[in-house]
Amino acid sequence: MRYITFALAKGRLANKAMEMLSNIGIDCEEMKDPDSRKLIFTNEELKMKFFLAKAPDVPTYVEYGAADIGIVGRDTILEEGRKIYEVLDLNMGKCRMCVAGPKEAAELLKHGERIRVATKYPNIAKDYFFNKKHQTVEIIKLNGSIELAPIVGLSEVIVDIVETGTTLRENGLDVLEEVCPLSARMVVNEVSMKMEQERIAKVINGLKGLLANDNK
Ligand code: PRP
Repeated sequence: MRYITFALAKGRLANKAMEMLSNIGIDCEEMKDPDSRKLIFTNEELKMKFFLAKAPDVPTYVEYGAADIGIVGRDTILEEGRKIYEVLDLNMGKCRMCVAGPKEAAELLKHGERIRVATKYPNIAKDYFFNKKHQTVEIIKLNGSIELAPIVGLSEVIVDIVETGTTLRENGLDVLEEVCPLSARMVVNEVSMKMEQERIAKVINGLKGLLANDNK
């Protein structure tokens, strides 16, 4: 039997995902050692492997088949636009992709002005402004702490993830428009879905059952 390989987005998401998987009998003892510098972990009994990757790399590993299954946020899936199957909403890591900025910037959005938009998600921002709103804007790619941009005058607005809203509030910014809701998703390689149909379906159905019980 060949290994089924999971790519998990490093951080909180990976920990929560492993918790969910362990509830359906998919566990990995090796992974629990916090001091380990290993990059890939194996459960020989289940013939499964698990590795942690930077979130934007998870869809890449899955598209190329280096991982059969990926667990990653919908933000990353939309931004990366890889050829993969999105099979399950894991109902965790819920947040929203939003256009945010100082209150005054709301007017600029209404009147379709040529504004600057700072974001870690240029593809999502382009799709939203160009295709949905038909507003021509200048997209400025940043790599983090996006909220700084309108404060220091780099851009009029930002497109970023809002979870609790604390970061915006503490920096005097508001949600101006909602782009889309987000949460963690399970994705699957297109070939693996056919070749390992039975084993992958078992994982999907196990998680579905778990999620259905959570909602009761
Ligand atoms: C994310 C996001 C916001 C913040 C939103 O940043 O980009 O900055 O969390 O959360 P809140 O609404 O609960 O305040 P992250 O911590 O991932 O770091 P980053 O700024 O480097 O992207």
